[in-house]
Amino acid sequence: MNIKTLAMMSLLLLSQNAMAEIVVGFAQVGSESGWRTNFSNDMREEAKRRGITLKFADSQQQQANQIRAVRTFIAMRVDAIVIAPVVETGWTPILRQAQRSDIPVIILDRNIRADEDLYLTRIASDFVEEGVKAAQWLVENEQDECRVVELQGTVGSTAAIDRGTGFNSVINKHDNITIVRSQTAEFTRNRGKEVMESFLRAEDPNSICALWAHNDEMALGAIQAIKESGLAPGEDIKVISVDGIPDYFLAMANGLANVTVELDPHLGAPTYDVIQRYLKGDTDIPKLIRTTGDVYTQATAAEEYQKRSQ
Ligand code: AHR
Repeated sequence: MNIKTLAMMSLLLLSQNAMAEIVVGFAQVGSESGWRTNFSNDMREEAKRRGITLKFADSQQQQANQIRAVRTFIAMRVDAIVIAPVVETGWTPILRQAQRSDIPVIILDRNIRADEDLYLTRIASDFVEEGVKAAQWLVENEQDECRVVELQGTVGSTAAIDRGTGFNSVINKHDNITIVRSQTAEFTRNRGKEVMESFLRAEDPNSICALWAHNDEMALGAIQAIKESGLAPGEDIKVISVDGIPDYFLAMANGLANVTVELDPHLGAPTYDVIQRYLKGDTDIPKLIRTTGDVYTQATAAEEYQKRSQ
């Protein structure tokens, strides 16, 4: 074989590889929480394992940044677009653009309010159920009068709306439990601490029975605020949350928090499975793929922390 033929063959191989390569654009919410960071890492690592090129946009909790990123992905003609939406509304125009360009869109985690035909599937947990499980723990563990303060997630996000709905649907049937303060802390640790400090100033701290935080990150900030006020988080004020990040397991193991409802951050594999199936011509893809999570308490926290922090 002469040099010219060899060069021709390598070029052919190279172009075949280039054709086979899948490029995915991912408009992520941001990096507001440990859970989100674990989820982003999982998306990156799983893409790498499968030889998929991932174009990653950290949208810093701003929907406008996400829409800009999606517009760029459309212009780049990526093979698929993944959106983990900050909020539920305002998605229809950009999804229409993606559809006109024949680019499938996969929604991860939080929900959107748009016509189902505009996206291929959504892979997510049941956020209402998470709120229900969190409240059930409180109902089972608090028979006396219990005044609860609530740290809500980002306003307009499914994680805040549905977790609130689920929690309230349970406590509304129990007269001894009442939410006395409720405010958003945008899913971040710093805001969690600040808002908890304001709750502790506004209420008699000794009258607060439990903190219900829509994620572990805000709960960890609030735990700090409770400690600084001289009270014992996990004892004087019970701490209830969602996510199951290692730092929170450590807090539970140390008796500073009581319970968390796990949210699975491993969304990479199911996402790329769907994309690869669809690009091979499989259109039999369900509109909703559910992930699940268990409830964890102090009983197994030390052991879970060991497993999750390796
Ligand atoms: O949408 C899921 C929520 O977003 C997680 O519970 C929280 O940690 C994140 O910011």
